Amino acid sequence: MLNQFKNSFYQNQKIIHLNNAGLAPISKDARDKILYWGERFYQEGFFTDHDYMNDVLHSRSSLSKLIGCEAYEVAFFQSTASAISQLCFHFPLNQGDEVITWDQEYASNLYPWQEATKRTGAKLVIVESEKDFTTPVEKIIQSITAKTKVVAISWVQFLTGSKTDIQNLAKITNEKNIFLFVDIMQGFGLHPFQMKEWGVDAVAGGSHKWLTSPVGVGFLALDIKHMNLIKPHNVGAYTFGTCDDPTDLLCMPKKDASKFEAGSKQVLEITALGASVDLILKTKVKVIETEVIRLSKKLTAGLRHLGFDVHYNHSSIVNFIPKVDSTKKLEEIGCNFAVRGPGIRLSPHAFNTDQEIEKVINQLS
Ligand SMILES: Cc1ncc(COP(=O)(O)O)c(C=O)c1O
Repeated sequence: MLNQFKNSFYQNQKIIHLNNAGLAPISKDARDKILYWGERFYQEGFFTDHDYMNDVLHSRSSLSKLIGCEAYEVAFFQSTASAISQLCFHFPLNQGDEVITWDQEYASNLYPWQEATKRTGAKLVIVESEKDFTTPVEKIIQSITAKTKVVAISWVQFLTGSKTDIQNLAKITNEKNIFLFVDIMQGFGLHPFQMKEWGVDAVAGGSHKWLTSPVGVGFLALDIKHMNLIKPHNVGAYTFGTCDDPTDLLCMPKKDASKFEAGSKQVLEITALGASVDLILKTKVKVIETEVIRLSKKLTAGLRHLGFDVHYNHSSIVNFIPKVDSTKKLEEIGCNFAVRGPGIRLSPHAFNTDQEIEKVINQLS
């Protein structure tokens, strides 16, 4: 299955994709899906209506399997930020309530919660991560008080790949009746995740990193037990029914997560996402995780052997402190990277090869 996964990506000897924590190339399956719908919309227009709707439903169903929830608990958005905004601007926060987050959260999680707490008079409690950027769950647990209403953190941090133990955190938040929201973007598709089984209340993420599909889809999964708690932020025909329903001022919003999708959707991007998620499900997340960790450990060992100071946290992300010529050297071999936190972030996916990792290490020597 791993070989099939690797063969599902375009082989280009001139470039090395090592910024997959930023923007990954899309799979062949995702590319084919876009071409398929492009051609059908070109040839058939409205007569595709029923089929593309079904394909969107298929994407929702596949995504829910990967999240570990039900399809009716998943809603599509345009970005992770919009999905999180839907949740936090309608979460019933009151003056004095506390929302806990990490000090190194990505902006799409940090800013919506900052704004939501500002608007309601709640307090955003920012927990300091360790000096080496690790994010141990104990620090979040120690920050919980009687006023804590929400813990809203990333599963895997975007700077150095530091993970927080969500499974153990959920045990505590459930016991204390605290809402647990997790931005799963940097770990989803890469490490096994089980939202309902672990007891996580809601998650959000997006299409363009470990899910190897085009930029432009965010998603929110909300446990059905909270569905009445959160009102739709954007409102339109699909909040209540479909485009074919007559308007009725007394109609009620849908009872599942599709109430959050006010209108027509990004069919190309969502169906392409579904195609890549199917590839991931077929390959199995555990297989992807094992290969990603093998490649990133090889990269870490090679860099350390060359004397680089490296942050590595058993995910994909390898963050090293560069020498003066490091970025130029990476550019020379067409290797993309990101300048993040303490240094240079490299982030292999399971489609990367040993030869690519060796080429990068040789080039940096
Ligand atoms: C933790 C995390 N969440 C979300 C995102 C993406 O956010 P958005 O879809 O709003 O651009 C990123 C991208 O870098 C990220 O690292």
